Amino acid sequence: MTRIIAFFNQKGGTAKTTSTLNVAAALAERGRRVLAFDLDPQASLTMATGVDVASLELSVYDLLIDEGLTIDAVVQQTTIPGVDLIPSHPDLAAAELELLNVLERERQLDYRLRAADLSAYDYALIDSPPALNILSVNILVAARELVIPIEPHPLSLMVLRRLFETIAKIRRLNPDLQVLGFLPTKVHHSSRLAADMLDTLAEEFPNLPLLPAVPLSVKSAESAAERTSVLQYLPRSNVAAAYRQVGAWLDDAESRRSSRTTHPSRLRSQRLTDSPVEVGAHG
Ligand SMILES: Nc1ncnc2c1ncn2[C@@H]1O[C@H](COP(=O)(O)OP(=O)(O)OP(=O)(O)O)[C@@H](O)[C@H]1O
Ligand SMILES: [Mg+2]
Repeated sequence: MTRIIAFFNQKGGTAKTTSTLNVAAALAERGRRVLAFDLDPQASLTMATGVDVASLELSVYDLLIDEGLTIDAVVQQTTIPGVDLIPSHPDLAAAELELLNVLERERQLDYRLRAADLSAYDYALIDSPPALNILSVNILVAARELVIPIEPHPLSLMVLRRLFETIAKIRRLNPDLQVLGFLPTKVHHSSRLAADMLDTLAEEFPNLPLLPAVPLSVKSAESAAERTSVLQYLPRSNVAAAYRQVGAWLDDAESRRSSRTTHPSRLRSQRLTDSPVEVGAHG
């Protein structure tokens, strides 16, 4: 069965796109076949995977609006071996309005995914826009699992309550939706902010694990500018190493679920000291 995992947070700039891109690359490196979905009209993931947005004939916008269209017609190859892409396009911004008149507008992505033959892929990874709109709701209804990328910032915690209220409502439409955990991104190893945030997360969400933390580093931006993943661009960097750990964590999530539950606070202290964090990239 293809696992459908969305990287979701309505807050902007929490490294959803960077994480979708590099987790896709990390899973592909482990021999998994990945189909990435760019559901953000900004089309950042599409650009970062080397697809030329201007020359696209079809995008995820057409997939959502046109019931007759299949995933095969829209899929693009990327610069990352083992990773295919359902690209986005700025037109996707109009989908919000166009879906207004569609019956069951919040289920359109889910219907397309269910109708598709995804057997060629082990994972479908969805990059989400920084919003709680009809596109985001389509993602929450279609996904089976969620990863919540979160950056060390006081506002990050404030938006979580709203996110979990939304998830609770979505469960009426998608009862099996499972939150895998928080993915701490842009973590500066000596930052008080990061340590405090991780403490608060462990206190407020004791049942939700923290995935391996991703260190703060300019290399993420550099690799996206090079239109590829950091695993391709700088395979030995600490960010590439962190995303490899995240890929392994996701691959192992199923077996871990059935065995024991690791206490989040133990994971937290381990993550902050173990992850190869770089100093000073962003001050
Ligand atoms: N580990 C990191 N260290 C430093 N900067 C990072 C890291 N990961 C991502 N960034 C930078 O942070 C910014 C936001 O990242 P990204 O675009 O992945 O976030 P996003 O959640 O997808 O944003 P949006 O909500 O706008 O879609 C980008 O400039 C990116 O290069
Ligand atoms: Mg993004």
